[in-house]
Amino acid sequence: MRDWKKLWLTLLLLVCTGMVMTSCQSGRKEEEKTSLRIGISLYRGDDTFITNLCNILEEKAKEYEREKGIKVTLDIQDAKGSQNTQNNQVERFISLNCDVLCINLVDRMDASVIIDRAMTAGVPVVFFNRQPVEEDMNRWDQLYYVGVDAKETAVLQGEMVVDLYREHPEAIDRNGDGVVSYVMLEGETSHQDSLIRTEWSVQTLKDGGVPVEKITGGIANWERSQGSALMEQWLSEYPDTIELVISNNDDMALGAIDALERAQVSGVNIVGIDGTTQGLEALANGNLLGTVSANKENYAGAIVSLAAGSALRQALPAEYPLTDGKYYWTSQEILINKIEENQ
Ligand code: BGC
Repeated sequence: MRDWKKLWLTLLLLVCTGMVMTSCQSGRKEEEKTSLRIGISLYRGDDTFITNLCNILEEKAKEYEREKGIKVTLDIQDAKGSQNTQNNQVERFISLNCDVLCINLVDRMDASVIIDRAMTAGVPVVFFNRQPVEEDMNRWDQLYYVGVDAKETAVLQGEMVVDLYREHPEAIDRNGDGVVSYVMLEGETSHQDSLIRTEWSVQTLKDGGVPVEKITGGIANWERSQGSALMEQWLSEYPDTIELVISNNDDMALGAIDALERAQVSGVNIVGIDGTTQGLEALANGNLLGTVSANKENYAGAIVSLAAGSALRQALPAEYPLTDGKYYWTSQEILINKIEENQ
């Protein structure tokens, strides 16, 4: 009997000591957090939109540092299109004691290795731009996603052309035959944005009463050079036919503009998506008719705030309300080159 009592007392003592130690440790951890290390991996460092976004992300991190008095160190790595490389980068971030990871997945269907590692290490992850599948996102409550709503983007792109057509049908139906003949430049097939943008921009044109007819379309993987090559081919296959180029992003639209310039063809309208620096230049000089621009301040601000908040185990910023507790959808706007100014 006396042995049982002793055993109970010893167990009680051990449990209490453990509780005191745990509370001391967590108290110390919170007190000490005067700096944050964020590991960022980009699917490709040469992607124009991602580069634009990353530049603003660096500014937002500095802004956070100034406002909160917490030192923020960003470790930015380029996965160069390899999921394996990205997985190794995550491994390294964790061994360097990063407090949080911001991941622009190479393969959005293949997030499991990264999630496993992050969960084991207890390091939250903010995915952005390339959306992991829902099943992966639901594996842990410390996984977040920041991006734009693909359908909203596409509908805005379509509406931009619908409005222009209603105001100036002759500027969209360039040859006045009652039909707007278009070609479509598409992004990577595996990207959540490509299919939805392609489908809904055209659907919105049809719903808005624009009489469209597809000449052809092709995948240019978001790239300017590939967009340019496709457009060059289409210009020779369908001479004097293309009136409108609908592009899933600005870079491929710029490629189409390059091809038109090389072929010395004018009078073709081109619409893009992203509002990249290069896209905005083309808009300003009249080469691009319009674009749908993601609010990049908001996009990058959400990534930094969510990353910092989750790393510090703080309440997440009310400024960036989450859908289903994990998704933040960035706002977007239409930017057009006024047709009147070009006439
Ligand atoms: C952007 C593209 C970019 C791609 C990269 C898309 O949302 O519109 O410009 O290349 O994301 O993942």
